[in-house]
Amino acid sequence: MTKIAPSLLSADFRNIEKEIKKVERCGVDLLHLDIMDGHFVPNITFGPMIVRAINECTKLPLDVHLMIENPDSYVESFVESGADYLTVSIEACRHLHRTISLIKDFKVKVGCALNPATPFELVKPIIKELDLLLLMTVNPGFGGQKFIGSVLSKISEAKKFMEEHKLKTEIEVDGGINPKTAKLVKEAGATILVAGDAIFKSKNYCQIIKALREQ
Ligand code: DX5
Ligand code: ZN
Repeated sequence: MTKIAPSLLSADFRNIEKEIKKVERCGVDLLHLDIMDGHFVPNITFGPMIVRAINECTKLPLDVHLMIENPDSYVESFVESGADYLTVSIEACRHLHRTISLIKDFKVKVGCALNPATPFELVKPIIKELDLLLLMTVNPGFGGQKFIGSVLSKISEAKKFMEEHKLKTEIEVDGGINPKTAKLVKEAGATILVAGDAIFKSKNYCQIIKALREQ
């Protein structure tokens, strides 16, 4: 069954614990935390201290999405703060294999994200090391952006590759996911759907989460 990962970026941070409990009650699979540094992306969010506080509010696995330069320098602090999945952006890694190995040494799950314009080809040399491949369906930096449809063929390409090589790597999609686009990405092969605005800007979180799952 498709997994759902609400992105807290769109949640009400004045009441973050309440927001987390609300999505927990709907039976979500992961909590997606967007870490932005104002360099790799033109926006700044939060760091390990907030990740730790969120971890103390929930038993859900934390899916930490790093949109930062120099991820190697921060791996340890995000792991210590409770990250269960740690995903780096391929475009920010000069020595990708080294970064992936470093994360694996900490015994957390490792992911690699590709921006919409980055070809699948680039991740092939390390794909066997990954627990998760994150295919961005918007350019990272902000919630509430429009889904980029041209990524669909990359999702299909990744799915085909995983099948051919008998890999169990999750294919996660992130950006502009709503019940309509959920249907498209699931058909193409996505196994984890991240959704921010679709969930947190809606009146009934459980209804949307169910719709995302059941499309
Ligand atoms: C974008 C972030 C996303 C974002 C998704 O850079 O990586 O996780 O919060 O938000 P929506 O679902 O609103 O596009
Ligand atoms: Zn994200």
